[in-house]
Amino acid sequence: MAEIFEILVPATTANLGPGFDCLGLALKLYNRVVVSPANETRVSIDGHGRDELPRDAGNLMLRSARELAQRSGKALPPLAWDAHHDVPLARGLGSSSTAIVAGLLAANTVLGLGLPRDELVRVAAGIEGHPDNVAPALLGGLTLCLPDSDPLVVERLNPHPALQVVLLVPQFQISTCAARQVLPAQVPRADAVFNLARAAAMVAALVEGRWALLGEATKDRLHQPYRLPLMPGVAEAMEAARAAGAQGVAVSGSGPSVAAFCTGGAGAIALAMIRAARSCAVDTTVTVAQIEPAGARIVRRSG
Ligand code: HSE
Repeated sequence: MAEIFEILVPATTANLGPGFDCLGLALKLYNRVVVSPANETRVSIDGHGRDELPRDAGNLMLRSARELAQRSGKALPPLAWDAHHDVPLARGLGSSSTAIVAGLLAANTVLGLGLPRDELVRVAAGIEGHPDNVAPALLGGLTLCLPDSDPLVVERLNPHPALQVVLLVPQFQISTCAARQVLPAQVPRADAVFNLARAAAMVAALVEGRWALLGEATKDRLHQPYRLPLMPGVAEAMEAARAAGAQGVAVSGSGPSVAAFCTGGAGAIALAMIRAARSCAVDTTVTVAQIEPAGARIVRRSG
């Protein structure tokens, strides 16, 4: 390969309240990596994770690329990986999925594998351990994954174009692993029924713009109640977002970020969430994100 190319991978917000491990949305907030031929493999990172992420063989982007090469019976040539991260780490915005997806897309391209997106979602979900961030990162829009289907079934849907997501990102981090450990292995049937009705309602609300459904449709009994004690200021910020006009509010992925869904009034919602978090001594940043329709892609080639 004598080619240099740049890969763009979007952040994602998963779960969307009731759709634990099933629903996800791609957002217009990106990690990028420029991949170029090199005499020996090296990784550079700037932006988020610069001082935290490994640059050796433990790097998740590199491991994912090597795993796909190995599965395909090929060897990955030495490459330089120059990453720039705008997606904050360990905040429930799919940063690890961006690394996995970037690695897989790079290997698919460099090795000329020609694997389709659905297949890449399956490989990525195997590496990540759950599919709901990697699917929207690869496919864009709103994605619905059916865990335990074999092969994994993934459907991409178009969310209503008026949808906006106000993201509140606390300064503190929570690992998905730690946030999964607090979840019960079994739940009461009433809670399962509560969630399955709302997950269906959430898809209808987002696709058809049935905004009046969102308040009820973002409620959840499978993960948020167990996780909120790990996240100071988050319950207060969610309440403030609702009071300021957000039609629905959810913990983003495994947290601690908050995704407030609206079709307008984003500034007032953002301000209310920041103030509520600050009143709990939690510093935050806020971003108003549009929906990324296309998902990860190669944006520049040369050489
Ligand atoms: N569905 C996963 C979880 C998403 O909630 O643990 C992690 O971002």
